[in-house]
Amino acid sequence: MVLRLALLGMGAVGRGIIQAALEKDLGLIITAVADSRSGCIDPNGLNLPELLDRKDKTGMCGDTGISAETIVKTAPYDILVEMTPTDARSGEPATSYIRDALQRGSHVVTSNKGPVALHYHELASLAKKNHLQFRFEATVAGAIPILQTLIHNLGGNEILSLYGVLNGTCNYILTRMAEEGLTYKQALDEARTLGYAEADPTYDVKGIDAAIKLVILANTVWKKNICLDDVDVTGIDLLTEEALRLAEQQDATIRLIGEIIPGDNIYRLCPRIIPKDHPLVVQGSLNAIIVRTDLAGDLLFVGKGAGSRETASAVIGDILSIRDIHAGGN
Ligand SMILES: NC(=O)c1ccc[n+]([C@@H]2O[C@H](COP(=O)([O-])OP(=O)(O)OC[C@H]3O[C@@H](n4cnc5c(N)ncnc54)[C@H](OP(=O)(O)O)[C@@H]3O)[C@@H](O)[C@H]2O)c1
Repeated sequence: MVLRLALLGMGAVGRGIIQAALEKDLGLIITAVADSRSGCIDPNGLNLPELLDRKDKTGMCGDTGISAETIVKTAPYDILVEMTPTDARSGEPATSYIRDALQRGSHVVTSNKGPVALHYHELASLAKKNHLQFRFEATVAGAIPILQTLIHNLGGNEILSLYGVLNGTCNYILTRMAEEGLTYKQALDEARTLGYAEADPTYDVKGIDAAIKLVILANTVWKKNICLDDVDVTGIDLLTEEALRLAEQQDATIRLIGEIIPGDNIYRLCPRIIPKDHPLVVQGSLNAIIVRTDLAGDLLFVGKGAGSRETASAVIGDILSIRDIHAGGN
């Protein structure tokens, strides 16, 4: 069975999907793509090298007369792959695209944290009612398959707690401050130059991005019903070089740690002093997560939390698992 995908967003993640579809035989075709200003549709599958070339040369993937909304509502596709920018406060326009696709009878995979953090329960029940899949592995920890692992592979466990480094930009800044004695501003500027931090890094350094991931984990793994305001958040923007130096003197360092203890309703994100040999002291832009379970014991996950190919890996995993479920395979 050849799956037909409609892609919304042709930025880092969208391009990662297109590149992977060109490099590997994934058994899928891309029948529609939209970016912020244009769109293109071909029921037989778009010519992907031409698509990449057009986007590079014109900044647009297609015609200005074709919008994302047109694609969601009229293009032929089996799975909507939603990869537009995250809006943590409204979740729009992504939530409307997802809702429309599910109402139309299509599965949805998204890498966008906004709709999942704000509307998971509504969207999951709409999908269930229509016998469809709604998947979002890429929204937490990029390439690390944490959501499927916790929800399915560890399904027989009580998951007692989760601790993690969930924002690669903050981890990069903290690593560089500790290793090279850079100031916060120098490390942030370096992260921007290397493309780890956005021009406006507020979401990352104030802890909002990592806190959204805690909301997604709490609501999807533990079926809680929390929102961003329920997370106790302290970012790294006020952290001083002095604090890092003091930690160094105790053979420790500082990491921005997210924490969920579901039994006590604790959802917290704050910089923590931890021994340098602790497994959560990962370097650079890596993510790391420890989960504590009753049957499986403690598990540690480390990997790239962002990046075009790494995030595409998580999105493609979701796409292929939908194919397997609907082909009656495993
Ligand atoms: N990059 C990562 O490593 C990563 C990791 C995990 C999750 N995510 C999430 O995945 C999503 C995509 O990330 P990204 O890095 O690919 O972002 P990006 O590079 O900024 O690309 C966003 C894409 O969405 C398009 N777009 C904007 N508004 C749109 C709309 N209303 N309809 C259709 N397309 C629209 C943009 O169009 P133009 O090309 O015209 O600007 C662009 O092609 C975000 O929600 C992000 O938080 C990213």
